[in-house]
Amino acid sequence: MCGIIGIVGRAPVSGRLVDALRRLEYRGYDSAGIATLCNSRLDRRRASGKLRNLEAVLEKSPLEGLIGIGHTRWATHGAPTQANAHPHLGAHVAVVHNGIIENFKELRDALINAGHRFASDTDTEVIAHLLSDRIAQGLSPHDAVKDTLDQLEGAFALAILINGEDRVMFGARRGSPLVVGYGEGESYLGSDAIALAGLTNRICYLEEGDWVQLSNDTVQIFDMTGAAVERPVTLSAATGALVDKGNHRHFMLKEIYEQPTVVGQTLSSYIDPLNLRIVLQDLCFDPKTISRVTLIACGTSYYAAMVAKYWIEHYAHIPVDVDIASEFRYRAPVLSQGGLAVFISQSGETADTLAALRHCKQAGQTVAAIVNVPESTMAREADMVFPIHAGPEIGVASTKAFTCQLSVLAALAIGFGVLRKTIDRSLEATLVQALSEVPSRMAEVLHHDEKLRDIAADLANARDVLYLGRGTDYPIALEGALKLKEISYIHAEGYAAGELKHGPIALIDQAVPIVVIAPMGPLFEKTVSNMEEAIARGGKVILMSCKDGLKNHSDMAMASIELPQVHPMATPLLYALPVQLLAYHTAVHKGTDVDQPRNLAKSVTVE
Ligand code: F6R
Repeated sequence: MCGIIGIVGRAPVSGRLVDALRRLEYRGYDSAGIATLCNSRLDRRRASGKLRNLEAVLEKSPLEGLIGIGHTRWATHGAPTQANAHPHLGAHVAVVHNGIIENFKELRDALINAGHRFASDTDTEVIAHLLSDRIAQGLSPHDAVKDTLDQLEGAFALAILINGEDRVMFGARRGSPLVVGYGEGESYLGSDAIALAGLTNRICYLEEGDWVQLSNDTVQIFDMTGAAVERPVTLSAATGALVDKGNHRHFMLKEIYEQPTVVGQTLSSYIDPLNLRIVLQDLCFDPKTISRVTLIACGTSYYAAMVAKYWIEHYAHIPVDVDIASEFRYRAPVLSQGGLAVFISQSGETADTLAALRHCKQAGQTVAAIVNVPESTMAREADMVFPIHAGPEIGVASTKAFTCQLSVLAALAIGFGVLRKTIDRSLEATLVQALSEVPSRMAEVLHHDEKLRDIAADLANARDVLYLGRGTDYPIALEGALKLKEISYIHAEGYAAGELKHGPIALIDQAVPIVVIAPMGPLFEKTVSNMEEAIARGGKVILMSCKDGLKNHSDMAMASIELPQVHPMATPLLYALPVQLLAYHTAVHKGTDVDQPRNLAKSVTVE
């Protein structure tokens, strides 16, 4: 989603605003802009496209000023043009905005009738005009901001500058997160902690409905009613260094390669590798009495939920529902009493998942969140948090967050099974052993990078690609297809291998590569039969299996990748890597923008 930065500084801010936008560019990258206040005059620079376009504009036409706001945009209302780029100006103010103003049409009509002229198609511009209108009516900046916020409906985070108020900035949070940073004689606003990395590590997350007035030395926070409130200041772990590509060409590749480390880090919070036990501390619910588990998420996180359904049902014998958050919230789900609802989200901010979380909480479910951002809204609103320790994920296509989510979910499934006595001590030890080997096995899988790059050279010419898998590897097929679609723009579909003959087999011809995910295990033979059905119809197969699995079948395939033979519980964790690498190299072959694919944004905080 969009990124916001605001600096009330002691030194010129323009360069630092752009630096912060660079850290935020992963949140939205279809246009960018900054505005500063200098000698009581607001001025702005904007450019469509990547941040480098804004930098080029600023090089020709620099902006002075000790106070400023900046924005990277992921378009919601209005095309990604310069005119729609933020900041938006009213007669007296400049505004940057993340989120959606739902009643913008009514507000805009009323403002147009009152003589305001609009210069963009965005919903944001109404905020600038509304606020300017209140200031023109003689309201103080503080009262004008409060009055304006009261009239807005929707979800938003805002940063605001007001003409003539050279030392003051306002911010507001409703629905979209906003972080306040405390510096030495400076203060900051950011859409997340990463925005403020490099400026300060003393931060405060505004609560829902809060708004804030910042100066160099003061931060005054108000709640929705306008009453002054205190919010805790914490030390952020996000640093500028963490958002560096290192020696890698892309963040996505760096994050794929980080998986042995971050999965190891994550597992170490949930398993005791010496005694081969699961460690689940301070559960706020009793797994023995859970009647049903509902797993809710979007996109890649949803595929992690799909894998977990197999695990929790198999090992803990609890019925599991899996829901796409945007569907769940608009139907009438029947939730069992004593149910546990688990929300899986890298960002912890995805609007649909958050809304579903609030719904479940209200409906009396115990609510747990599996998130990568410990300060995120989901983490703060859930009854219990299971962190994934993946570190900042900057590549828009999720990779390491996915395998870390799987790691936590695997530990939960085993832990629930142990507590419910559906798993005995010996099986617990076997499963924990299998999980503890995952990081080193992942490192082995990464050795296939070059071979996957060669296969990707062929895949790059395809128009459609199919991915097949069964059981816990069916969601990996879906994930492989999603990765390929989003970064290479090649159409791809994942199917449960057994479903092929019920329709999709009609798609198969020599021009449609089929990636078959077939680890050795109880479903291997069945998957191979489905693969043979495809080959018999001219399908060109890329087979991913272990040594034994490839022994009699690799000859039939156009290409094969040999992965380590592991316990079936570990296969989705391992097989996620080759499908990520295949998508990555295909995208590189095609020359697409791997880290910032078109039309996408990290952390989707609108419905
Ligand atoms: C795909 C991807 C998205 C996210 C989805 C949910 O690579 O990254 O599908 O998984 O937008 O985001 P989170 O996990 O932040 O809720």
